[in-house]
Parts: sequence; C-alpha cells; structure tokens
Amino acid sequence: MRQTDVLIIGSGIAALAVAYYICEGLNVTIVTKGSVTDGNSSLAQGGIAAALSEKDSAKLHYEDTIQAGDGHTNPFAAKQLTEEGNKILLNLLREGLPADRAGDGSLKLGMEGAHRLNRIVHAGGDETGKAMVQFLAGRITGKVSIAEQTMVTELLIKENTCYGVHVLNPDGRTEAIYASAVVLAAGGCGTLYRHTSNHKNCTADGIALAYRGGAILADMEFVQFHPTMLYLEGAVKGLVSEAVRGEGAFLQNSAGDRIMENVHPLADLAPRDVVSREIFRRIQQGESIFLNIKSIPQFEKRFPGISKMCKKHGVRLQDGLIPVMPGMHFFMGGIKTDLNGRTSILRLYAAGEAACTGVHGANRLASNSLLEGLVFGKKIAEDVRTVQPPNSFPIFNPELPPKYTVTKKDAADMMDRFAGIERNEEGLRELINWFKAAKEKSEQADELSPDVFELANMMTAGELIAKAALQRTESRGCHFRSDFPLKEADWKRKELLWKTNKTAL
Ligand code: SIN
Repeated sequence: MRQTDVLIIGSGIAALAVAYYICEGLNVTIVTKGSVTDGNSSLAQGGIAAALSEKDSAKLHYEDTIQAGDGHTNPFAAKQLTEEGNKILLNLLREGLPADRAGDGSLKLGMEGAHRLNRIVHAGGDETGKAMVQFLAGRITGKVSIAEQTMVTELLIKENTCYGVHVLNPDGRTEAIYASAVVLAAGGCGTLYRHTSNHKNCTADGIALAYRGGAILADMEFVQFHPTMLYLEGAVKGLVSEAVRGEGAFLQNSAGDRIMENVHPLADLAPRDVVSREIFRRIQQGESIFLNIKSIPQFEKRFPGISKMCKKHGVRLQDGLIPVMPGMHFFMGGIKTDLNGRTSILRLYAAGEAACTGVHGANRLASNSLLEGLVFGKKIAEDVRTVQPPNSFPIFNPELPPKYTVTKKDAADMMDRFAGIERNEEGLRELINWFKAAKEKSEQADELSPDVFELANMMTAGELIAKAALQRTESRGCHFRSDFPLKEADWKRKELLWKTNKTAL
C-alpha cells in the first residue's frame, strides 16, 4: 500500500500540466500504463492554438471555438480556454518551451481549419506534441514520482468520494495507492475504431474507470474524425496534419478535381466534420482522395515527421500527392467536469481528452486540445491545493473485470461500421445488441492483465457511444445521423449524461 497527496493517472499534456503547476509543496505521483512519452500528446502535429499575433484576440479565438462547436459548446469553458490560454502559453514560452520562430525571433504561426487567421504555435515543424511533452516532463523530473508500465484497474470510491486507485504493477502484483485527490488524465479512446490517428494505448481507460466508479459522463456521441490520415492498401498509417492544408495543400480526386470547392465557403479549411464527411462520401462511392501538396515550398523542412512517415510507406513526395482518408482522432465526450476539473465524485478530477468540460462542443477546433490540457490542468493544480486529506482511508477489495470472448479488433470493426462518420438507428441498434451479446457471453476474468482491462474499458465506452449516438436524433458537429440529417434547435446545448446502471439522466 502506498500513499500520496495527488495521484495523476496518465502522462499526456493534461497530466504533465497538473504536475508542473503543482510542482512544489505536495507529494505528487504519476501512474501511467506505458512510458511517459507514449500517448496522443506526443503524437500531436499541428500545434497549439492561441491568439498571440497583433491582429488576433482571445475574443476572435473564442468565436472560432464556438463556431466549430456547432451550437453545443459550453461558452464559459471556451472563454476560460481562450482568455487564460494566451497567458499560460506566453509564460511557458518565456520559460523555454520550444517553438518555431522566424529569423527576427517572432513566432511562426500556422493556419488550420476553421481558424480565421494564423494562430497555431508549432515546434519542430510538425512535432509540437513531442516538444511539449519533453519540456514539461523535463521540468517535473525529480519533483514528482512516476510509475511507468503501471495500469490503474479501479478507482477506490466509497460514498461518492474517491480515495485512490488499485493498480496492476509491472510485476503483476495488484496494489492500492491512496491519495487525497485523484486526477484522471488517461486520454481518449481512438483504438475503438479501425482507422485512427491515436496511439495504441488510447483504450478509453479513464472514461471506463470513471463510469464504473459512478462518475457522470457526458457527450459520449461526439467522436471527431480527422479528414486526412495517410491511407495505403486499405489501412491508415498515421496523421497528415491539418496544418498541411493550412500551408496551401488541397484535396482532390484521381481526376484532379478539387473536392471541397463547392462544399463549404472555407473549402479545404472547413471544419473537420464537414471535410471528413465529404471525403468519406466520395471514398464510399469508389473514389480515391489525395492531398495535393505541390504548392508547398520545402515540404520536408516544414513537415519533417509527416515526410518521414510518407517515405517509410513508399509515398513519393516529389509526385506531390498523398493518399488520405478520415479516421477517428479525438473524443469530445468524457467525464463531466466543472471549470476547475472537478467531477461528480468528491476528490476526483478529470482533465484532457478523458474529460468533458464542454469546451469543444460537438466538434473541436484544430489545435485546441493541447491548450485545453494546459489551461484545465493548471486550474486543477490550483484547486487540488484546497483539498484536505481524509481522516482515514477505507479498505477496498480488488474487483475483477469481465473477460470477453470478442477481441479489440472485433470491437473496432463494429464501431467503424455502425458508430463512425455516418450513423443511423438500424446500425446503432445492431451495435448495441452486439455489445449486449458480448457482455452476456463474458465471464469474470481469472487472470489480471492490462489486455483484459483494456478490452473491458473499450467495451464499456463503445457501448455508451452507441447508446448516446442512438439517443441524439439530430446531426450536429461530428455526430451525423443519416436518418436525421438536420440540426434540431431543440437539441442545442442539450447534454446526454451517463452514470452506472442508468440510461440518460
Ligand atoms: C492536426 O495537426 O491536424 C491535428 C491537430 C489537432 O488535432 O488539433
């Protein structure tokens, strides 16, 4: 049995930001199931959005965030993100956070979809996430305990209060770690889909842990599909950043026709859901879609990571065409929190992709996610300081997860087919029945392994996504129902909430 003041689950930007902003005075432990640099944050390419240019303002960034969220954004969260994000990022840059700069030292600001002007701070060309993770991880080294290859299997919750976690240590031992406050920053659920930009570790762990513990979840139907992933021989190989279109690339078919021109006034830089649906529709009809990068000077210098990936898979960049298709990229739903990251369970916080503050509405604006991790991570760090240790810690017996006979691949295939870019009632009912049948056939696990927990977590989250998508009988942002193709005023800002053993509250 171990004890700490603050226990952080996960090691992406949100987790590291909480640790960074607490830094001194409290005993902080990070538990992560891989190594610190695994996960989606390190993979983030485009950058971090903030209104730092003279022509820009937090108000303009706020308006773009709201616009992309398609009537479902929590305006208070968006205000906090855009107003505080600027200051936080400026401070980090002063403290040495790396960023690409012009010869005169000014920041090079990139453009991405649905932003009205250039405001994307980037580092290493297209390796912003890696640079930020390395920077924050470097700053907390020696000040925070980090347990890698350690999987959280259960939140220790009694009477709506969280007292810590059970973990599966690398040697297979189960152990309790007690804490005065627990922060769930365990990332998203990309592996629930066959085509995804996400790291293989993104198996809905935070969302499922919170749900099993009785926390309220929200917006589970909102899954963002990024329009452009490198697509070869029927499989997605990785992300091709929206910043590529921001630098002038456009989408075309094999005949050379520009596909976005008559679809949206912002054409190739329309919101992600619009671009993804158009590409998806055309691929369904048998077309192949490409990013035409011919107009981008020094492509390999500006996008070194993407260039490396393309070359590794045999794409000839000199031909100027990258084959693409959309894939699961970001989860807007998750553990419902207030603006300080507090969940519905006392002493339990959530941040980053696992959390749902409502800041992204029905469709996240490009490059707002790293910023979200910093802003809400800092808020949690401040709030956690007010938490007093409990008088005592109850004893908890470890619970065993269900062991499914289906595989992760089965789940991803079903989610792709029935809860992907386009959904309808018939498909969603089939999917829900599939989850039900899989649950009925499952047994209690007799051995504990990360794989058993991951699959159980994916099944929990997948079923909730399907149920939420069925309940929302309209199309909004990235949730598109082919049987309800229009946005309905009645649904504006209406959240579907989920709690153990209950349907929508
Ligand atoms: C991208 O580089 O296109 C992804 C950035 C993001 O998801 O915000």
